[in-house]
Amino acid sequence: MLLPIFKLFRNLLLLSLIGLLSCQSTPDNPRHDVHSYAKPAEALMTHLDLTLAVDFKNKQLDGKATLSIDNKTGTNQLHLDARDLTIDKVTLGSAETVTNFKLGEEDDFMGQPLIIDITPETELVNIYYKTSPAAVALQWLTPEQTSGKKHPFLFTQSQAILARTWVPCQDSPGIRFTYNATVKVDTALMAVMSAENGTERNNEGVYHFTMKQPIPAYLLALAVGDIEYRSLGPTSGVYAEPAMLAKAAFEFADTEKMITAAEALYGEYRWEKYDIIVLPPSFPFGGMENPRLTFATPTILAGDRSLVALIAHELAHSWSGNLVTNATWNDFWLNEGFTCYFEHRIMEEIYGEEYAGMLEQLAYQDAMDAVNDIGPTSKDTHLYLNLKGRDPDDGMTGVAYEKGRFFLQMLEDTFGREKWDAFLRDYFDRFAFKSMTSAEFVAHLNKELIKGDKALAEQVNIDAWIYGPGMPDNCPVPQSGEFDRVNAQIDTWLEGTAASALNTDNWTTHHWLHFLRNLPHEISTEQMTDLDNQFHFTKSGNSEIHHAWLMLAVKNSYAPANDAVENFLTSIGRLKFLRPLYQALAETPEGKEKALAIYEVARSGYHPVSYSTIDALLGWQQ
Ligand code: BES
Ligand code: ZN
Repeated sequence: MLLPIFKLFRNLLLLSLIGLLSCQSTPDNPRHDVHSYAKPAEALMTHLDLTLAVDFKNKQLDGKATLSIDNKTGTNQLHLDARDLTIDKVTLGSAETVTNFKLGEEDDFMGQPLIIDITPETELVNIYYKTSPAAVALQWLTPEQTSGKKHPFLFTQSQAILARTWVPCQDSPGIRFTYNATVKVDTALMAVMSAENGTERNNEGVYHFTMKQPIPAYLLALAVGDIEYRSLGPTSGVYAEPAMLAKAAFEFADTEKMITAAEALYGEYRWEKYDIIVLPPSFPFGGMENPRLTFATPTILAGDRSLVALIAHELAHSWSGNLVTNATWNDFWLNEGFTCYFEHRIMEEIYGEEYAGMLEQLAYQDAMDAVNDIGPTSKDTHLYLNLKGRDPDDGMTGVAYEKGRFFLQMLEDTFGREKWDAFLRDYFDRFAFKSMTSAEFVAHLNKELIKGDKALAEQVNIDAWIYGPGMPDNCPVPQSGEFDRVNAQIDTWLEGTAASALNTDNWTTHHWLHFLRNLPHEISTEQMTDLDNQFHFTKSGNSEIHHAWLMLAVKNSYAPANDAVENFLTSIGRLKFLRPLYQALAETPEGKEKALAIYEVARSGYHPVSYSTIDALLGWQQ
């Protein structure tokens, strides 16, 4: 009788001891990352030395990853993240002593733990591996999918937890490492990474990279293709396929100004160079803030620089995200909410209050739409998320971006710009190259700005924003005089004035977006025709305007835009455009049929990130 009770006590004691020892990684710890198998409190990766050969024929990277390890507890095992990787061999140290490893059970989106036998003295672990053609981070493009049509193209997308599909590593935003890489490509191609890059192609097809600032794995990035470089100024430049280079350089002419404005706001740019690479149109995002080298969609090349807020956004991530990083994907708003706020400040600085005010009002509409789509009482509208057991992409909604941004706007309004800016400058400096949890941010804000003032605490109501649903009552509501002008024209048109008689002088892309987004949901074919004849939306070369119009066309079965819908969906892979269009099509039986027919053709041109989302949306079975 005594024995089992004794055992129970002994086990409880042991359990609590283990809990204490590994307090970095207990599940209740807000720093614990539920999306990684790594055990950084035991053995931590501090540097990566990567050698890759890029094999387009087999859609495969053939790699050796040498990880520098800080063995903190003298453990005999190193825990890494891996997904769809073939591990050929693992060795230890520069002597390359072969060691044992095992791949654990496979999870749909987490992949597998890669557990390697090490010794308490191990400093280097060499992993020989190959990627799978199905690696979700990689898109292998045929020459036909590029603008030059002659050479293939490869690019990676590691955020949120896809780095593990091309590099075995500790794939957690709270873990940082420096890296070096050597990449071998066909001599007709050039390779660039989220690191110090060359600007010239070489005859050997071998490229060397160094990233001396420590970064989390989701910022590892590689692109390979027929690309060339053009400088934009002392700190910035652009890579693109030769046919796109001049257009890209024109579009991004204000990049240097943006860097200067950003530094004046929140302190020194810590990454030396800021370059942009324009990818082929299948890139699933608008932009990705890979350090030193933003990846961008060509759909922002509007020809009039009207969509460059996206560059301000990715640049702003050089502080919010890349310098001070969300500790886990539950804290994603710390990356995106801060960045949207910072983006707005850069835009205001360069293009003025009136212009930035329009962007802010569009963002406010996005915020409201995001909250309403998810459901205003849903826990997924909290800024701090609980993504345990879910794909982190589930949490990457407009809430993190726009609710996050308006939270910071409310704080600015409360404390005044001067105090608030000083707070942010200090924040980026104090926590540079570190990660941050929501709770730590709240504690810091309390300490620095609220300082125990009860009335102030009640006024800002942090809990409602971070741990509560929907848009809190104290959310600032932006106004825009420019958009009042647009509203007046919408009313005039709805009262029967012909489109040709509307006053749209000097309207920017943003006026047009507000116009299209605020038309009634139901519009007759005559009315659609009237607008189209006058403003040529079906032929618009501005991706945002074109998309907003195609949404109206689908919802109102406006047949003259059918070809444009099909053409758009088969030539562009940006998820932000694809998802709402497919969704709108899928709302009627005929539309769904059309969507499936288009998707059948388009799917093979999409990035895995895009087609996995659209597969689910359309209930697509291969
Ligand atoms: N970091 C994001 C892109 C991302 C988020 C990729 C989550 C994978 C998972 C990037 O900074 C971003 O937010 N891009 C936006 C543009 C922006 C102007 C809102 C996009 O791609 O649309
Ligand atoms: Zn972002």
